[in-house]
Amino acid sequence: MNTRPPPCSDRWSRAPQKAPPPSRTRNIALIKYWGKRDERLVLPWTSSLSMTLDVFPTTTRVRLDPGAEHDTAALNGVPATGETLRRITAFLELVRERAGCDRRAVVDTRNTVPTGAGLASSASGFAALAVAAAAAYGLALDATALSRLARRGSGSASRSIFGGFAVWHAGRGTGTAADADLGSCAEPVPAAGIDPALVIAVVSAGPKAVSSREAMRRTVDTSPLYRPWAASSRDDLDAMRAALRRSDLDAVGEIAERNALGMHATMLAARPAVRYLSPATVTVLDSVLQLRRDGISAYATMDAGPNVKVLCRRADAPLVAQVVRGAVSQGSVLVAGPGDGARLLSEGA
Ligand code: DP6
Repeated sequence: MNTRPPPCSDRWSRAPQKAPPPSRTRNIALIKYWGKRDERLVLPWTSSLSMTLDVFPTTTRVRLDPGAEHDTAALNGVPATGETLRRITAFLELVRERAGCDRRAVVDTRNTVPTGAGLASSASGFAALAVAAAAAYGLALDATALSRLARRGSGSASRSIFGGFAVWHAGRGTGTAADADLGSCAEPVPAAGIDPALVIAVVSAGPKAVSSREAMRRTVDTSPLYRPWAASSRDDLDAMRAALRRSDLDAVGEIAERNALGMHATMLAARPAVRYLSPATVTVLDSVLQLRRDGISAYATMDAGPNVKVLCRRADAPLVAQVVRGAVSQGSVLVAGPGDGARLLSEGA
């Protein structure tokens, strides 16, 4: 973010920088974002809170192409088409509007985990794209402005601009006026006293049948459980912030688990129902319960997919990973810690 190319430059930009040390931009929400009050501006009904991870970095390069009539993008070397390309182009339009530059862009994004598998790849993707595109188009944006920009690509991306724990404030109102000033953006949350790890059980790496965007829309529109969950989620966030302030990992985990299960309950009650949790998910949830019965602080959270992330103390992570691995018949288990937010470093670094 400190390297500022001239406006409309043709140079490559990338965010985050590749190793060493790689920037990590994926985040896992402990208080979930689920439901928009303004679809166009990606304004959520509720605030959310996440931990940015030190695994699964996304590396994105943006190059302006003076001769091109359209934007092009490649994800892991495969040309983007359809809805994916439409979302990237719509995002670049925003950046172009702000920069007063109409040159088209060439985007190259590399992910280290499968996209669309409930591991929040759109969060890291749009956070990295926001940082890289802003630099390529010569926009000097601070972290708050980058968070607001990244949000327009994918809501959860607003939190990935920051490392460690971050809260995304829902803000108020709808329409352009609601997005003025600070609007709806993320900010870091201090949590120095806890030493957390997330044990990630990837029980399925396949793409999801229903996108999280469609699922949350359907939930807001049809689920009788949505409003009660949204109200309790606001209380959960207050309680979570208090638990982080007093470095109480058990309270953080309990609140995160109930918030995630509540979110999945809202989707199960949608019409038609959206069910991301699979038998393998439930088996891992049972192993987490058993860990707690055995006196280990371990708490589960799931996003729009069947994979389970288990919050625990870093010192307990090897044991938790071992137990979870025993519960996962097919798939993989890995351990993540808090990581850095999205950032731009110089090409040669
Ligand atoms: C379940 O940020 O992918 O991971 O804003 O429509 O792009 P859009 O949704 P997205 O939703 C993520 C939902 C979640 C919970 C969370 O990360 O807070």
